[in-house]
Amino acid sequence: MADEHIHTHDTEAEGRPVSRKTLLKATLVAVSLPALLGGGAALARDRRPSDAPLAPTPFCDDGDDPTPPQTEGPYFKPRSPERVSLLEPGTRGTRLTVGGYVFGLTCQPVAHALLDFWQADDAGAYDNRGFRLRGHQYTDARGAFTLTTIVPGLYPGRTRHLHVKVQAPGRPVLTTQLYFPGEPRNHTDPLFNAALLMNVRQAGPAKQATFDFVVDSGGPGR
Ligand SMILES: [Fe+2]
Repeated sequence: MADEHIHTHDTEAEGRPVSRKTLLKATLVAVSLPALLGGGAALARDRRPSDAPLAPTPFCDDGDDPTPPQTEGPYFKPRSPERVSLLEPGTRGTRLTVGGYVFGLTCQPVAHALLDFWQADDAGAYDNRGFRLRGHQYTDARGAFTLTTIVPGLYPGRTRHLHVKVQAPGRPVLTTQLYFPGEPRNHTDPLFNAALLMNVRQAGPAKQATFDFVVDSGGPGR
C-alpha cells in the first residue's frame, strides 16, 4: 500500500531517526535519477488520496551535519545568468548532470533555494570575462534541482571540482565545492573533502551525478 513507508516517519517521533534515514536510503537506492527528479510530488507530507501513486521521500543523508563550506577561490563572479543548463553552442566536454535536493538541518526540503554554480571548462579554464559555465537556479517546490553542464577540466594544483553557492531564502550563503570520486588528485589536493563527493555514474557517453545539500534554512526546525 502506498502509505506504508509514511508510517515509518512515526519512528522519528519515537526517537529513532537513524532507522528512518536508513530505511529511506534503502528505498531510494533503487530509484534512477530521472525517476527521482521527474516525478511529481515526492514528499510524504504532500501525500494525496491513496489512489495517487506515492513517489519516494527524498533521502537526507544526515540532517545533523550541514554541508561543509569551502573556499570560494579566485573566480567567482556575481550576477550569473539564471539557467539550469550551462551548455552553449560549441561547449566542449563530457556532458554532466548534477541532481539532488537542498535540505534544512532537520531534513525538510527547502523550496526556492538559490544555487549558483561556476566551474572550469573542459581545458581547465574559467571564463572571467563573460559567464560561460556560470549560472544560477532555484530549487523547486520539492527542494530539488538539476544542473546540466560538462565535467570540468583539471587545472594546476586542484583536483576536479565544481564551485557552488547555496542559499535558503533569507539565510546565509553556503559557499562550497563538489568533488568527483576516483580522481587521482583527490589524494593530493589539500582542499579536497570527502564529505563533498558526489555520487557519479556513467550514462552512455555522459555522467550523471547526485548530491544533496544540507543548509540552515531558518524557520521551524531550521
Ligand atoms: Fe576552481
